Amino acid sequence: MNTEITNNSKNGFAVQVRNVTKTFGTGEARTQALKGVDFDAREGELLMIVGPSGCGKTTLLSVIAGTLEFEEGEVDVFHARLHGMSKSAITNFRGGSIGFIFQQFNLIPTLTCIENVSVPLLINGVSRAIAEKKAAEVLALVGLGGRGHDRPSNLSGGQQQRVAIARALVHEPKLIICDEPTSALDKDTGHKIMELLRDVARAPGRCVIVVTHDPRIYQFADRMTEMEDGRVQRVHEAPQAGFSHTHQ
Ligand SMILES: Nc1ncnc2c1ncn2[C@@H]1O[C@H](COP(=O)(O)OP(=O)(O)OP(=O)(O)O)[C@@H](O)[C@H]1O
Ligand SMILES: [Mg+2]
Repeated sequence: MNTEITNNSKNGFAVQVRNVTKTFGTGEARTQALKGVDFDAREGELLMIVGPSGCGKTTLLSVIAGTLEFEEGEVDVFHARLHGMSKSAITNFRGGSIGFIFQQFNLIPTLTCIENVSVPLLINGVSRAIAEKKAAEVLALVGLGGRGHDRPSNLSGGQQQRVAIARALVHEPKLIICDEPTSALDKDTGHKIMELLRDVARAPGRCVIVVTHDPRIYQFADRMTEMEDGRVQRVHEAPQAGFSHTHQ
């Protein structure tokens, strides 16, 4: 059982998923959300995942983030083998290495924006003063410099989404996983956020995975993975150059 995080330059992959299955419920309520998914994300890329509602995109992201147990298959994230790790080891690994932007934002309503964004730093042992200073800087980067002391309920949906994005970026994780990061944003704000995520993805040793239904942001993808009915159907290289189909 290899739980060691080794140098990711070994093969250039940030994430490798092999033949993963996941079933929810039993009997008539049984749904096989993942039916043997094979999936790769490379170091240094912004990879998009697209596909119809219910095809398993959020389930796959949750498996990669280590927040959802799966039945069969293998998941490696920067060479940490999630399927062999204890729950506490996964929690530690996630806290240090993964930033997650949830489809439902998942902000803590009783905390201010600065406090929400500080959480990943506090979990990693950073002092409150330094965490809040860094949180304020990242909030400014996503265009919310003046709203740090507001609570999420005082913000619009798009502003809340940007707080969630700031929280995923603040501890500079190697892997950032985004579930519909622009769903509540207008075109210009969405483009600014995607530029930020693309710059992060291109930094050495990092990777950004974005699930989206938003064709306005496809141009930011280095590769595009198409899912359908619990499986990866196709991978396209450089979709901005016209969706060249590489393999099935
Ligand atoms: N906690 C759960 N309990 C039961 N079924 C679930 C659960 N989570 C997801 N499912 C089912 O698994 C399938 C895949 O769901 P998932 O949320 O991964 O889809 P998705 O591709 O993210 O869809 P969307 O684009 O609507 O967000 C769906 O049929 C869904 O109903
Ligand atoms: Mg989803």
